Amino acid sequence: MSIDWADRYSVGISVLDHQHENMLTLCNTAEKLLAEADAAKTKAELRGLLTDMHRCAKEHFSTEEQLLSQHGYQEVSKHQKDHDEYVAELARFISLAEEGKLSMKGVFVHMSKWWVNHILVIDMQYKDFLAKAIEG
Ligand SMILES: [Fe+2]
Ligand SMILES: [Fe+2]
Repeated sequence: MSIDWADRYSVGISVLDHQHENMLTLCNTAEKLLAEADAAKTKAELRGLLTDMHRCAKEHFSTEEQLLSQHGYQEVSKHQKDHDEYVAELARFISLAEEGKLSMKGVFVHMSKWWVNHILVIDMQYKDFLAKAIEG
């Protein structure tokens, strides 16, 4: 199911919202590719997409963690652990994909769910905190 960006995904910080939107777009791109018929081409593209996700996710997590630490968010290490687990999982998926041992459909359904849940449940917990901290 394609995920459309909506206000309820907004954490109120535009740089983070843009990065989140980009991650959801990558999930949507995967879904579109999975619906295509050319299996060999699709597989290569999906592998490329996994690598893009890994890079964009790391970049986003570092921006988010930096901002949270900078403002003294108490839950930062717990939050960081969630990010680290996801990055490790993604790295594992990439290795499996290289060996041809991965169900791409399963992986991308999982990815979409992970991002929606992480943004709406985990990231949302810092929304009010950051808004107040930045306001002053
Ligand atoms: Fe996060
Ligand atoms: Fe995030």
